[in-house]
Amino acid sequence: MLSVVVLISGSGSNLLALLKAAENPLYPVKVVAVGSDKDAPGLEHAELFEVDTFIVEPSRFQDKEQWAKTLLANVLHHQPDLVVLAGFMKILPESFVKALEGKLINTHPSLLPDFKGAHAVRDALQAGAKKTGVTIHYVDAGVDTGPVIVQQELTINEGESESELHERIKVIERALLVETIEKLALAKSASEGN
Ligand code: GRF
Repeated sequence: MLSVVVLISGSGSNLLALLKAAENPLYPVKVVAVGSDKDAPGLEHAELFEVDTFIVEPSRFQDKEQWAKTLLANVLHHQPDLVVLAGFMKILPESFVKALEGKLINTHPSLLPDFKGAHAVRDALQAGAKKTGVTIHYVDAGVDTGPVIVQQELTINEGESESELHERIKVIERALLVETIEKLALAKSASEGN
């Protein structure tokens, strides 16, 4: 069983997909806690599934390092095998990323390296891209630059709005995230000889 901590900032639909998948006893993943940088609406999903939650707000700390140190302590308290950034919209400092090296993944709504950053869907539309997609990748010290685990492409429809496109991306993203975390869980148990 892979223990996962999920960090979110928003509606948490990716988190919800993972919580639902983990209801199946054959799915080899347990969400042990959900954290956020604010009182995000998505925390309600964790509460409904009786999963621990924590909020560590940057504004309560002197600087980003202090904030990240406390966030990391909350994460490590749950002893996760994997930490998933699922719509977590704060940039994490190198100290946090290093402490979780190889155990920290992010889901991003574009085909990286195209359209890094917080407005990937809008940027793809503004650039007139014909295709975009989803990338799930390991997190390194850069923004959306870490090694890619998996990508899935999607064709942009003529005249599609940012919210329409993002919703279609998220349908793919949720399924890909659930599938990818399952694969990581199976790879870990295979490497441990289980
Ligand atoms: C996802 O598309 C994620 O990639 C992006 O923000 C969205 C979060 O969606 N960074 P949700 O909170 O999981 O519904």
